[in-house]
Amino acid sequence: LAFSFLILGSSTASAQASADSGLSAATTLYILAGFVVFTAILVLYVSVVILRLLRFIVKEEAAKKAELAGEPIVEEESWWSKFVDKANDVVPIEEEDTIMLDHNYDGIRELDNHLPPWWKWTFYLSIVFAIVYMVSYHVIGNMPLQTAEYETEVALANEAALKRAANAPVANIDESNVELATDPADLAKGKQVFLNSCAQCHKEQGEGGIGPNLTDDYWLHGGSISEVFITIKKGVPEKGMISWEPVLSPTQMQNVASYIMTLRGTNPPNAKAPQGELYTPDVDGAEEEEQPADSLQLSQVN
Ligand code: HEC
Repeated sequence: LAFSFLILGSSTASAQASADSGLSAATTLYILAGFVVFTAILVLYVSVVILRLLRFIVKEEAAKKAELAGEPIVEEESWWSKFVDKANDVVPIEEEDTIMLDHNYDGIRELDNHLPPWWKWTFYLSIVFAIVYMVSYHVIGNMPLQTAEYETEVALANEAALKRAANAPVANIDESNVELATDPADLAKGKQVFLNSCAQCHKEQGEGGIGPNLTDDYWLHGGSISEVFITIKKGVPEKGMISWEPVLSPTQMQNVASYIMTLRGTNPPNAKAPQGELYTPDVDGAEEEEQPADSLQLSQVN
């Protein structure tokens, strides 16, 4: 019992660990079932050994008693040996003459044994199984055939893939649809990226160093979320700001751009003098409205 508790305890612990490492629940279940079966076999084996020991002691006692009483010792056959006899139904060696065939090949002779009963039982059982199988799978159809089973699995996997994609729409963030992240967790991730990759040039509080001050209202390349996003994505290589597209994921770029937005107006000490043009968020909307005008011009040209 203690042993099985140990196993169960360690397997639930590993189930938790495997949940973290992304092992599927089915795998965890198989591991657990394996442990349970292993324990069951072990318990069974030990009980058989103990039972045999008990039987041996009882037999010894009976033999002693019979000897004291002067009676002949009668060996009682165990149910197992009776079962084995019945399953094999072999003709005892003393009676083999009755089934000996009359041919003789250089001293090699042949016994006319019939099929062992255990073999016939499994044969009949397979017939019964075949009937049950056929009725269940092909006549009533209450069990799925392999094709149906496969299709169900594929449908389930597709559903799971859709869910995963819905939970993490990673790849499709770009400057045209980037949104200001407001979730504190996302901003915290953005801050981490900023401290790791950007602070050496823009300084820890964004006050500016080699790179410009990111906390004021003046921007060289535009201060809207999509403009900041594209500056980060494409960089300004000729001025020393690399393209971060190969380094950061779109989500990371969105997070760090959003984090930069939160720095506006924080007035950190030692701030670098403003560079670029004044940008106010309200103008943003007006600027973006210019786009339809552009496309109108384009369509006029066309
Ligand atoms: C090696 C130094 C360096 C690193 C590292 C760096 N930048 Fe820059 N960054 C610059 C320079 C220099 C500029 C100014 C480019 C110019 O003059 O056009 C700049 C410009 C910018 C701008 C535009 C500012 C404006 O006024 O329009 C943004 C936004 C920006 N960086 C964000 C980031 C982010 C986010 C990171 C980290 C992922 C980062 N930078 C890492 C040097 C750097």
